[in-house]
Amino acid sequence: MMPHVEVKSTEANNSYKQQLDNKDLSHIPGTKGWPLLGEVIPLIRDFNALVNRHVEQYGHVSRLKMGIQLGLLVTHPDDLQKIYLDKDKNMSSEMGYQETLGRFYGGGLALIDFDVHKAHRRIFQNVFKTQAMHGYLEIMNPTLKDGIKDWGEKTNFHFFDEIQGLLLNQACDIFLGIDDPIAAKKLSQAFLDINEKGLMAIIRAEVPGLAFSKGMSGKRFLYDYLQSLFAEKRQNEGLDLMSILVKERDEDGNYWSDEVLLPHLAFLLFGAHDTTTSTLTNLFMYLARPENHHLQQRLRDCFVALDKDNLDYEDLADLKFVEHCLLETLRLHPPVPFNMRRTLTQTTIGGFTVPANTVLYNTPVWAGRDPDTWTDPLTFDPDRWGDERGEQKKHSFAFIGFGGGAHKCIGMHFAFMQAKVFLHQFMPQYSFSTPSDYSPKVQVVPMPKPVDNLPLTIKRI
Ligand code: HEM
Repeated sequence: MMPHVEVKSTEANNSYKQQLDNKDLSHIPGTKGWPLLGEVIPLIRDFNALVNRHVEQYGHVSRLKMGIQLGLLVTHPDDLQKIYLDKDKNMSSEMGYQETLGRFYGGGLALIDFDVHKAHRRIFQNVFKTQAMHGYLEIMNPTLKDGIKDWGEKTNFHFFDEIQGLLLNQACDIFLGIDDPIAAKKLSQAFLDINEKGLMAIIRAEVPGLAFSKGMSGKRFLYDYLQSLFAEKRQNEGLDLMSILVKERDEDGNYWSDEVLLPHLAFLLFGAHDTTTSTLTNLFMYLARPENHHLQQRLRDCFVALDKDNLDYEDLADLKFVEHCLLETLRLHPPVPFNMRRTLTQTTIGGFTVPANTVLYNTPVWAGRDPDTWTDPLTFDPDRWGDERGEQKKHSFAFIGFGGGAHKCIGMHFAFMQAKVFLHQFMPQYSFSTPSDYSPKVQVVPMPKPVDNLPLTIKRI
């Protein structure tokens, strides 16, 4: 069955989708890495160190092979700005992600380009409009309040595990409107199979027992489950995101077909999956340190001052210090460590001629720690974001934790709202700490977090 959405594309042709990745980058300095693996092992061990090594040895544009995919690592805000803003429509997100995400999330919002993307994104925006956000907030407040009520007083409280479970359950409520723990567990397993087995698989063939095959089974389960809900969702007035999205219509007045809806929903769940979990965990890692307890208290004061059981939508914009804490965490530990693109025609990046069909690994991690932009860049210092200092204003692409340009994160406000509601429930009730000599290794992939899942001591206030 063909999708109902027919977008009148102005693209001259789509032949670039048939082209193979360009492998001729020998004129650009960089590495080749190991056969089959490229630099995957150093990437898993310490992505930030890998990026810094590339910049020091080769400069801001360098050859990098991840798995079998050769491309260019791009780190400088000037080059990132050119790539993300993409004035010449020369950067394909679809082809950039084809090899890594395509088999699982092809057709999702980040995996479509240009006019088609623009048309779909316009429709998609409706699920993040103010009225819809009010509805999500109505679900968030009680579920987060209820979720933390039994956390009690504990030592060795692994914050990452707890917040991950809590936000996963909430995702089922808010995105899908399902309140069925068994289904939620199965969905969560399907996601783990896709993201931690399928996407990570080195051998990408559907051979029973191999990781890739498990990922594909997860995808089939997810798609079948989502599809089974569509008809009922179109009949009901649910506040959840899926209930809103299935009722959206294209410019011809038709519902989106299942073939269009399914990858959009799957990618949205993927985009939301664990990004806020990672952000809150890393924020707590900083606030738990004895030297940052004054920041923990300032954050608590923001919510105590509101003196409310539930956060209202109108409160969100006023929580400036809270937002600065979240941004500061994302600057140091962006949950999406690189965004991929592929060039359509020859271009210039950082002074190098870059041929057509070249894969680009665009990373926010170097720009987020550049000492020319950020004072004392490795220090957690939320006030650098305030009006007085405004360090982020030195370059509009110095902070790109949410990406930039046409594909900039569509769930950014949702993520901030969810983090604020959690903090509003948690901070006035609890204080938390780690020992003064606690200094965990912080991994970057598959998501940034302390490798020991952040064991905290939490106390009721
Ligand atoms: C702290 C939380 C989050 C971070 C750091 C984050 C980061 C990003 C980044 C960097 C991109 C750009 C990808 C690219 O240019 O290739 C992106 C896109 C996207 N994000 Fe997020 N994200 C977060 C939360 C969310 C949430 C909660 C949702 C859903 C509710 C979401 C849904 C999406 C979608 C659908 C896209 C694709 C947008 C497009 O291509 O037009 N994200 N996100």
